[in-house]
Amino acid sequence: MFIFKKKSKMLFNNLDKVSLNKNILNGNCYIPGDKSISQRAIIMGLISIGTTKIEGVLDSEDVYHTLKAVESLGARIKITKNILNIVGVGLGNYKSPNKPIYMGNSGTGTRLLIGLVAGSNAKVTFYGDSSLSKRPMERIIRPLARMGAKFIFNDNIRLPITVIGAGKRGFTFPIKYNISVSSAQVKSAILLAALTARGKSSITEPSVSRNYTEKMLKERGVHINNSINKSGKNKINISGLPFLKNCDINVPGDPSSAAFIGIACLITKGSKIIIKNVLNDPFRLKIFKILKKMKGNIKIIKKNKYLCDIIIQYSKLKNITVEKKDSTALIDEYLILSIAAASGKGIMKMKGLEELRYKESDRFLAIKEGLIKCGVKVNSKGNDMEIFGSNLIKGGCVINAEQDHRVAMSFNILNLISEEPIKILGNKAILTSFPNFFELFKKLGKKKNNG
Ligand code: S3P
Repeated sequence: MFIFKKKSKMLFNNLDKVSLNKNILNGNCYIPGDKSISQRAIIMGLISIGTTKIEGVLDSEDVYHTLKAVESLGARIKITKNILNIVGVGLGNYKSPNKPIYMGNSGTGTRLLIGLVAGSNAKVTFYGDSSLSKRPMERIIRPLARMGAKFIFNDNIRLPITVIGAGKRGFTFPIKYNISVSSAQVKSAILLAALTARGKSSITEPSVSRNYTEKMLKERGVHINNSINKSGKNKINISGLPFLKNCDINVPGDPSSAAFIGIACLITKGSKIIIKNVLNDPFRLKIFKILKKMKGNIKIIKKNKYLCDIIIQYSKLKNITVEKKDSTALIDEYLILSIAAASGKGIMKMKGLEELRYKESDRFLAIKEGLIKCGVKVNSKGNDMEIFGSNLIKGGCVINAEQDHRVAMSFNILNLISEEPIKILGNKAILTSFPNFFELFKKLGKKKNNG
């Protein structure tokens, strides 16, 4: 598709003509590799000595842009069947490409690579599509500038941004930094810069965010540890080092993608599916815990330390209150959770949703305005939202996904249970994270008895 030479039956330019069939979902499936791990695996390949072999990497647009970026920074890429081999250049000595690097829609790829370049000898300009160009970058630039990197940007501190690595001007300073809002992207940007610092850095985040950067760095010989205090603050200590050893990676299925298929199954009468080989990480599986609380018939079967299977069956969902403390773990799942809530019984209260405003689109607005358009009652106050569940979703409207894959997938799924069709504009965005989304539904779809 993007990385591997595998033909797809989907016509990429015609995706707005495609919609999901209102079929019962039935059977077993595998979902594509985890996006966060795939992007990090590629970056680890660049900074490690020798060849990193990556299996199960997500073959999507976002990951492709990160791969191309890493190639521009000096890595050599070799593809054998469905294995991605990356020959690294080691830490800090990346190539300064002679033209700007295009990152498409990928916030994770961009923020992590800006951090990496900040701790190097390279000078690189990054730019992206119109959605990525609206996303805040000040949150990474502030700490990275303190570490010695220099930045050239426009007045609103958005892409395009030129990074002049700290190594070009001397060396990377270690940092002690408090992140004000938990973010794995911000944390990872600082950690990647800190690899070349002379000494120990420490980063504190208000609550734990996904920790794949930390885990992968540890596996590659970095001295990194964390401690969580009584109020839940997570402090990570990391020491700079001269080189990283390489390690092969097998990427498990993405729990966030599993949540889309899972919720589609929960709201479609008669459905039962098994999603196989999903990343076994309680933090990312939080969405399934919430759905279980909503009376969703879900079983998580742990297979080993890394993988689980998820068995899901149609259920009459009951809405609940989701507290702000869960918002970091659920950050990518609120959109699809709000679709489940729209069909659930009672009022769903979701609190502390501010960060949703800074994603691929303003997801707070996307949920509120999108659901209201589809005939669902929604109230909001500050960063809290209430969704009034109903067993009749009217639909009969057009939703513009505004370059946000998760908006497109969520409203395609709501279309499964709406009275009148919901037309989605911008399905192409789905290619950033879940290119076989429509194909997978087709595979699982079983015609209803009368159809
Ligand atoms: C990600 C972190 C999260 C998440 C994003 C992926 C990552 O963003 O929303 O989809 O891989 O680090 P924030 O770090 O901005 O919360």
